[in-house]
Amino acid sequence: MEVVVAEHAGFCFGVQRAVDTVYEQIARKREGELPICTFGSIIHNEEVVGDLQKRGVYVLSSLEEAEKIPEERRGTVIIRSHGVERSVGERLEQLGYRVIDATCPFVKRIHNIVERESAAGKSIIIVGDEGHPEVEAARGWSHTKTYIIGSPEEAEKFTPPADEELCVVSQTTFNYKKFQDVVEILEKKGYNVSVVNTVCNATEVRQNEAAQLAARVDVMIVIGGNHSSNTRKLYEICRQECEETYHIRTLADLHLGLPETVRLVGITAGASTPNNIIEEVRNYVRTNF
Ligand code: F3S
Repeated sequence: MEVVVAEHAGFCFGVQRAVDTVYEQIARKREGELPICTFGSIIHNEEVVGDLQKRGVYVLSSLEEAEKIPEERRGTVIIRSHGVERSVGERLEQLGYRVIDATCPFVKRIHNIVERESAAGKSIIIVGDEGHPEVEAARGWSHTKTYIIGSPEEAEKFTPPADEELCVVSQTTFNYKKFQDVVEILEKKGYNVSVVNTVCNATEVRQNEAAQLAARVDVMIVIGGNHSSNTRKLYEICRQECEETYHIRTLADLHLGLPETVRLVGITAGASTPNNIIEEVRNYVRTNF
């Protein structure tokens, strides 16, 4: 039996880079040095966060929490791939933390655009989900007014002052088609908008690849958290192509009895699934069937 793992299964580039940054800092830390923490969970994966905790890395959930840590215990803070508001990074430095910025470069690009265009006097529209940490962080780089538009319906209702110059960017994980629809509505309404497409295609690449793989295998395994919406989506996409599609969280959930006729098994994984879990499943299927 052959097992094929999708090339873009699991972490995207930005998340991998942020997680690697934390492990690099752990490896460099000498006995007696100040602790390492991350600003928010580096990733929504209990196994990874648990492993980091075991290695002494704790999670700072807010600036208030950062302020409460005694000064002599303020060590290294790593900013996760979503990024943070400019004021948050500055405040952490003021408090005496050593800040290591692992913001994904594609997210950082949005911060730079927001900062530059707002400094030039434009108001900023972020097409994305209000309250999403990435959107809130991007908003925090603007010198001017920011608007969040979450859907074409909201774009229809949007009525800024007529003379306002606007710059439109998007949350990296926003659906590209929906982003285009929003932009089209704004342009039709005659607003003075300059548009920068900042949608990242990592999710789309992962989904397309999963669909192609699922279409040619006998059994497809999708690995990812029970509450992970992108994993559920991957499962649905694969299920459309391959009836024998299974969703598991870790190897422990795999109770497959594969019939002799199965020749090819495909594996993909949601955005928060670390490589070692994917590898474990691959090795298990390879050696046990
Ligand atoms: Fe990932 Fe960065 Fe794209 S965090 S989804 S590669 S914007």
